[in-house]
Amino acid sequence: MFSRINSFEEYQIEYKKSIETPEAFWAEKAEAFTWKKKWDKVLEWNFDEPNVKWFSGGKLNITENCLDRHLATRANQTAIIWEPNNPNEAVRKLTYKELHAEVCKFANVLKNNGATKGDRICIYMPMVPELAIAVLACARIGAIHSVVFGGFSFKSLSDRIHDADCNIVITADGGFRGAKDIQLKAVVDEALQTCPSVKKVVVLNRTNTNVQMINGRDVWWHEEMAKLSSDKAFCEAEEMDAEDMLFILYTSGSTGKPKGVVHTTAGYMVYVDYTFRNVFQYDSSPLGGEADVYWCTADVGWITGHSYLVYGPLLAGATTLMFEGIPTYPDAGRFWQVIDKHQVNIFYTAPTAIRSLEAAGLEFVAPYKLDSLKILGSVGEPINEEAWMWYHKNIGKEKCPIVDTWWQTETGGIMISPLAGITKTKPSYATLPLPGIQPVLLDENGKELLGNNVEGRLCMKFPWPSIIRTTYKNHDRCKEAYFSTFKGYYFTGDGCKRDEEGYYKITGRVDDVIKVSGHLLGTAEIENAINQHPDLVESAVVGFPHDIKGWGIYAYVICRHERKDTENFKKEIMATVTKFMGAIAKPDKIQIVSGLPKTRSGKIMRRILRKVAEGDLNNLGDTSTLLDPAVVEEIKKGALTDPIVA
Ligand code: WTA
Repeated sequence: MFSRINSFEEYQIEYKKSIETPEAFWAEKAEAFTWKKKWDKVLEWNFDEPNVKWFSGGKLNITENCLDRHLATRANQTAIIWEPNNPNEAVRKLTYKELHAEVCKFANVLKNNGATKGDRICIYMPMVPELAIAVLACARIGAIHSVVFGGFSFKSLSDRIHDADCNIVITADGGFRGAKDIQLKAVVDEALQTCPSVKKVVVLNRTNTNVQMINGRDVWWHEEMAKLSSDKAFCEAEEMDAEDMLFILYTSGSTGKPKGVVHTTAGYMVYVDYTFRNVFQYDSSPLGGEADVYWCTADVGWITGHSYLVYGPLLAGATTLMFEGIPTYPDAGRFWQVIDKHQVNIFYTAPTAIRSLEAAGLEFVAPYKLDSLKILGSVGEPINEEAWMWYHKNIGKEKCPIVDTWWQTETGGIMISPLAGITKTKPSYATLPLPGIQPVLLDENGKELLGNNVEGRLCMKFPWPSIIRTTYKNHDRCKEAYFSTFKGYYFTGDGCKRDEEGYYKITGRVDDVIKVSGHLLGTAEIENAINQHPDLVESAVVGFPHDIKGWGIYAYVICRHERKDTENFKKEIMATVTKFMGAIAKPDKIQIVSGLPKTRSGKIMRRILRKVAEGDLNNLGDTSTLLDPAVVEEIKKGALTDPIVA
């Protein structure tokens, strides 16, 4: 009914309609897109198998909706503004017309290198426009992209390539991040030693690094592009089924092996477009003005980058800013400098960045006007009240609504969030469900907690268009992880409170994953990486509250034989984790122990380790059922004297 919700009353009407007649509601939203063939059925679903299908029988290509559809009205509008890591390097801007041409051309490069519909293509790149081009080019030809964050190590990369059985990797010689120069191609080379499925590697020249090119396997991006004359550059968009896979994105879970979350085409498209325009109140066609400049600071390697840097903004015909660097380079004023430089109107970032910039001090904010800003956003972890207030006061100058957006890799798009300037905000609350979203809170027995002023496990009782469809090649795992804990519900893994007004506040994870600087990391995955150190027998990792990162990593390790050189030992463990998982998973504290608190059946009692890591030594609960209760005393003692702080 409303293309964009304009008032709280409209939100209420829209929400009611989305619950009472969800199919009619979403069908109406879907009408706005370009379809090669309309759908036969809006929704089929059950949460038991689970099996969810949206817009069955519909045929389309998402890139026609991101690009071709806009050419008649906004060919010369900037689609992507690219801000380099080095503030003195030239900015790049691509109009919709230029982006369309580049995507078509690169799609042809992929075809020339053997790519076909349904292939899995791994993308391991720095934050440059070619990353977005690569993603869209895959979608153009119906290949399934699997983007791997450039900070992951060769082992994490090869595991993901293996799992998805990719035949092509798109990468760059290297990437610039702050003062660092990351050697991406070298990591790919190491990863590919164990990935025989990969037949081609397309390499972008970004850093002019001398890399080894393997004859027959490796080709340069620019050379392949140059082979295509401009009359051959157009690429017809492949006809995709509504439920054909669009991408796989790996996310951490309770086991050591990341899950390949699968999103499909039509539902994902409809939902990210709808949420982008409503949450951020994006105005793509203001009367007599320029389109808003929107900046999401997330890396395309994460879901936020997929949905709200690339697909959502482009579907909505927005101008989206992509930043190659980090918030603290060349100094902690970089975000604010970029906002002024590009006159950013909407700014979407993570609490961990806000906290670290707050810690850096207001002198880094002071030189900038920040008067172009209209709306601020937060994503990835709970934003504490103090950080919320700092952001509101010093960045938003008390005039920009903050949208605290709760969602997940598996949900594809924003689920619980204010609509900027339309619905009420409340510091540290994600507030209200978006239209189409039916959250429930369950107690530990799976009973729905009705009414307000309740706290429980956050679940969803009805599908939305961008819900996870499966975990790649392992549907049981999807069922087990999300649809089995509470029968008939999608379980998020988050704890949540609904206050007296019915507003939602996420209280954090209730499973064995931790959010470190907004990155979801499985404790088992980190343990696997730590255990690669030859002197270690076993380890146990838990999270502990951390002022800047939200959560820090605390590792308890058992050594094979005593190591007196603790400083070196610590460095070696760090290097091991960096090598086998990536620097984002390095522990903040390491404690050497002689044993771990285990139940008689051998399960590690993480509850106890968490309490110790939090410094709450007097509330460990009942330890009498442990195999060896004495180990707890030793760990408590060690926690006061021993942990090596990284
Ligand atoms: C957490 C990121 C509180 C939550 C989009 C969720 C949040 C996990 C928020 C998913 C928020 C995300 N407030 N917690 N606004 N946003 N989370 O898959 O624990 O990287 O389950 O997706 O991040 O992380 P993921």
